[in-house]
Amino acid sequence: MVSEQAVAQVLVASNRGPVTYSLGDDGTLDAKRGGGGLVSGLSAIGDEADALWVCSALGEGDREAVRRGIGEPGVRMLDIDAAVHADAYNGIANSVLWFVHHMLYQTPLEPAFGPEFRAQWASYETYNRAFAEALAESAADGAAVLVQDYHLTLVPGMLRELRPDLRIGHFSHTPWAPVDYFRMLPDDIAEQVLRGMLGADRLGFLTGRWADAFTECCVAVLGGTSGTRVGVHGLGADADFLRERARRADVEERLSALREQIGPDRKVIVRVDRTELSKNIVRGLHAYRLLLEERPEWRGRVVHVAFAYPSRQDLAVYRDYTAEVSRVASAINSAYGTDDWTPVLLHVKDDFARSLAAYRLADVALVNPIRDGMNLVAKEVPVVSDEGCALVLSREAGAFEELGEDAVVVNPYDVSGTGQALHAALTMSSAERAERTKRLAAAATALPPSQWFLDQLHALAP
Ligand code: G6P
Repeated sequence: MVSEQAVAQVLVASNRGPVTYSLGDDGTLDAKRGGGGLVSGLSAIGDEADALWVCSALGEGDREAVRRGIGEPGVRMLDIDAAVHADAYNGIANSVLWFVHHMLYQTPLEPAFGPEFRAQWASYETYNRAFAEALAESAADGAAVLVQDYHLTLVPGMLRELRPDLRIGHFSHTPWAPVDYFRMLPDDIAEQVLRGMLGADRLGFLTGRWADAFTECCVAVLGGTSGTRVGVHGLGADADFLRERARRADVEERLSALREQIGPDRKVIVRVDRTELSKNIVRGLHAYRLLLEERPEWRGRVVHVAFAYPSRQDLAVYRDYTAEVSRVASAINSAYGTDDWTPVLLHVKDDFARSLAAYRLADVALVNPIRDGMNLVAKEVPVVSDEGCALVLSREAGAFEELGEDAVVVNPYDVSGTGQALHAALTMSSAERAERTKRLAAAATALPPSQWFLDQLHALAP
C-alpha cells in the first residue's frame, strides 16, 4: 500500500545522514551538515526529481530533533530504539560485518558467534526492517531507491517484498571479504546477508576486486547471484569543490600555523584518517620510526604530520587503538625529538580545513590501510597539492586499482618495506613528483561524485 507520504522519486538510505543535530545545555538544537560523495551526488539530481534521504537519528540531538519535528527538507530521520540501534550499529555492523570485510579479527580468539551475537542480529533485522518500512512508505510508484553499505544489507530483500514496483540498488562502500573469510559467519547469517542484498536489482561496488569477491561468495554460499546485476563505480575526488575549498582563508591560516610547527627546510609526511583499525596507523608510525632509526640522515630533516580523528569510540577496541596511536607517537617523540624538532605532530581534533592545509604542503602522503573500500585521501591529496606530493599507497586500498601505477606501492603489513617506501618517496626528484601528481590527480578525478551517483541511478533505469 502506498501512503499519502509516498512522493519521492529517488530515495537514498544510509545509517549516517547528511545532517546531525547537537543539543545545547540551554536546549537549543544546532544542525551540522556533512560532506562526502553522497551529499554532492544527491545534490546533482537537483530539482529533476523529488529526492528523499532516509537515515538514522544517531545521538540525543538527532532524537530530540525528530521528537520536536525539526528537520531538513528532503531528509527523513528514523528514531529507532537506542538499544536496537546500538546492537545493530556497534554490535553487528561495526564489530562483525566491518571486521569481516576488512579482515580485522584476531582469529585464535575471535570471532565467537554465540547467544550475544544472535541477540544483536535480531536487532540488526529490526533496524533493517525499520528502514525498509520507511522507504516503502515514502517511495512514489516505481521510484528508485539507493541503499548504502553494510549497515543495511537486509533492506533490499525486505523492501522488494513490501514494494515489488520499486527499482532497488545497493552500494557497498567497503571492500568485500574473500570467500573463506566471509564464511566465518554462521551459514544461515551468511545466506541472509547475501539474499538480502540480492533482493536489489543491481549491486554496486567500488572496484572490480570487491565485486568479484561478492560474486564468489554468492556462488559458494548460494550457488549463484540469481540474476541480480553487479556493477563497479569507482568514486573519485570532487576536484571543483576541493580546489576552491583548499584556497579559502581558513585553510591559508592553518597552512601558516602548520609551517610554523614543522619548522623550516624540513620534508613533510602527511597522513589523514579516522582513527580506524583498518587504516593501519600504528604500523605506519613504526615504519616512520624505522626510517629515523635506519637512516639517521633524516633526523631533524623530516616531520610526520599525522591527523587521526576519533571514530566509533563506543567500541573498546577502537578506544584501545586510539590510545596505542598516541602512545607510539609519543614514544617516537621521546626517543628522537630534540629541542627544536618534534618528529611526529599528532592531531586528533577533526578539522577539515587543517586536513586540506596538510594536503597542500605534503611532500609525501602515507596511505597504508590493511584494507579499504577506496580511500579518498589518496585521491584528494594529488588534487590540492601545491608542489606535487609522492603517494605511498597500500596495494590493499581500492584506490590502488586506479592510482597504483604512479604511487610508491606497499604491502601494509610489511613495516620495513613501508619504511623503505617512505625513503623512496622522500628522495623522489621534484620533477618526477610533479609529473606523477599530475597523472594521479587526473586518475583520481575521473569519476566525480555527481557522475558516480547519476551513473548508478541511470543503471537502475528499467
Ligand atoms: C565508512 C563507511 C561509511 C561510514 C564511515 C564512517 O566509510 O563505509 O558507511 O559512514 O565509514 O563511519 P561511521 O561509523 O562513523 O559512520
